[in-house]
Amino acid sequence: MADTRLARLNGEWRRVPRALEFAEFARQRVGLRRYQHTISVTQTLYVIAQDLELSSTSAVAAGLLHDSCKGLKNDVMLAEADRYGIPVTDLQRERPSLLHGHVAAEVCRIELALDDADAFEAIYWHVTGRPGLGLLGRALFLADFSEPLRNHPASAAAREVYDAQGFDAALVYAAEAKMTFVENKGVTVDPRTRAFHEWLLADVPS
Ligand SMILES: [Fe+2]
Ligand SMILES: [Fe+2]
Repeated sequence: MADTRLARLNGEWRRVPRALEFAEFARQRVGLRRYQHTISVTQTLYVIAQDLELSSTSAVAAGLLHDSCKGLKNDVMLAEADRYGIPVTDLQRERPSLLHGHVAAEVCRIELALDDADAFEAIYWHVTGRPGLGLLGRALFLADFSEPLRNHPASAAAREVYDAQGFDAALVYAAEAKMTFVENKGVTVDPRTRAFHEWLLADVPS
């Protein structure tokens, strides 16, 4: 989405119910750079949510809280997953950071009494996506990848695809670019991201 549009809406998200409380919750749990990314994702998702006629309240909750558990150490992440009864795959046991969305969703449900099912799902699945993911979850996946503070060329390209071809095309672009990015780091792509991408190409409702 055009950067001018993002700038024009800068800060409007703060007027959404519980926004300042959620922002503070995130700020206390992550470092400065991750917090700046969190705000940038929230602003980007706020714009996408307007285009898709999604709830601003759910979008702001999802954006502000999605990475709130990203700073947990591996052993703590696994202990939290265990505590909340989250099923852990072999790949997640090997790379516990893959669990930060699942853990954040559960922590926010309990500690913040977050009872927004769309925000919960979006936070839970934002790391990998999954087939059948709801619209807010798909929007968060795109906002997380394409927010303008990410200085990867593919992030800017995803925003251009969004403006030129729309949400669905930008989301497919983001899913492909994320897989390429992970492959280039020499680590295994989570099979759910591959399945998510295949679902986007084949079955996603318009
Ligand atoms: Fe994340
Ligand atoms: Fe993120």
